[in-house]
Amino acid sequence: MTALGQVAVASAQAVPWPSAAAVHAVTRELRDRPPLVDLASCTALRARLADAARGRALVLQAGDCAEMFHEVTPHATERKCAQLELLGQAMTGRTGLPAVLIGRMAGQFAKPRSYATEPGPDGVPIPVYRGDAVNSAAPDPLARVADPRRMLAAYTHSAAVLDHLSARRAAVPVWASHEALLPEYEEPLVRQEHGTRYAASGHLLWVGERTRSVRGPQVRLLADVANPVGVKLGPGTSAAAIIELVEALDPRREPERLVLITRLGRDRVREVLPGLAAAVAATGARPVWLCDPVHGNTIRLADGRKTRVVPHLVAEVRDFVAVLTAAGLHPAGLHLESSPDQVTECVDEVEDLSGAGPVLPWYASACDPRLNPGQAVRVTRAFLDAFTRPAVVRP
Ligand code: PEP
Ligand code: CO
Repeated sequence: MTALGQVAVASAQAVPWPSAAAVHAVTRELRDRPPLVDLASCTALRARLADAARGRALVLQAGDCAEMFHEVTPHATERKCAQLELLGQAMTGRTGLPAVLIGRMAGQFAKPRSYATEPGPDGVPIPVYRGDAVNSAAPDPLARVADPRRMLAAYTHSAAVLDHLSARRAAVPVWASHEALLPEYEEPLVRQEHGTRYAASGHLLWVGERTRSVRGPQVRLLADVANPVGVKLGPGTSAAAIIELVEALDPRREPERLVLITRLGRDRVREVLPGLAAAVAATGARPVWLCDPVHGNTIRLADGRKTRVVPHLVAEVRDFVAVLTAAGLHPAGLHLESSPDQVTECVDEVEDLSGAGPVLPWYASACDPRLNPGQAVRVTRAFLDAFTRPAVVRP
């Protein structure tokens, strides 16, 4: 327990549901609902990712840290897609490579947490917010009780966003991705088409830094489905762990199967990434390498809010591109937390942290701080400034 009365969360991030029977009833109901995505669209994304693994395409995966039910509207979805499109156009304009656009959307409703509780409004600890699929962000002990029926609402809101994405797919496709954190939600949505099992909750699912144990339920679930899958890799990732993950998730070494998303922190990239890249290369896997420069560079302010400093993210992106390029690998793109709104959750310069600290007047994220449009452009531009198109595209 910390000085704030916070209790560390069990490593598997198991949700403290008050009633197993109620979870069971929801699981049964999810099993009876139609799949949210079909196998063909997951396979189509795999084909695009194969291009990225081979150095023929770039990838931009971005969106909210945590989507919120009340923000799901066609207008909001369209604005998020437009932001992805704009960044993708910058990537293509500078490199001539097509950009594969993947939203952290249509299912990004569950959050892993470092602590089970946080200080409530009167200083008394209350259960931590775990995403709209589990509890409410309202800082109230009752609102924070995990309610399994929220997983049904997560399904419904995901369906609304996916309808919007499908309607616009003919123009510029945006694929849906989320962290596969809740086995209670994901397992009943695993479906079978023509003998192939796939996760029908989204096109691409990833496992987070806290749940990527190969013996954990999240990796076991993803090992068993045909979708493209992502893995977050923090600075403590060992070569042995990454080899186990490749074995579990990409046993056939398919170039479109695995997306490795490093989130090392700006001070650790040069030290850690060469070893990870070499360990993966030795397995024969050919993953899509993405840089998440946000999760390893989070700063907690005195008022408890989290922020990030754009030049820190820029530094991580530059080192990521430099290390992979030096290793003869294709730095395929970025994984960002971003918003189409002019939010002030991240700061533009290091100096903004000095004195009394930043004011951050528009802080709307339910979880981690997001880049506003101008900040997302800066980070993407840093990627493109460092990127050199490979002289030889691999077969
Ligand atoms: C996230 O992507 O919001 C997240 C929690 O990331 P990580 O698992 O890398 O910490
Ligand atoms: Co986050």
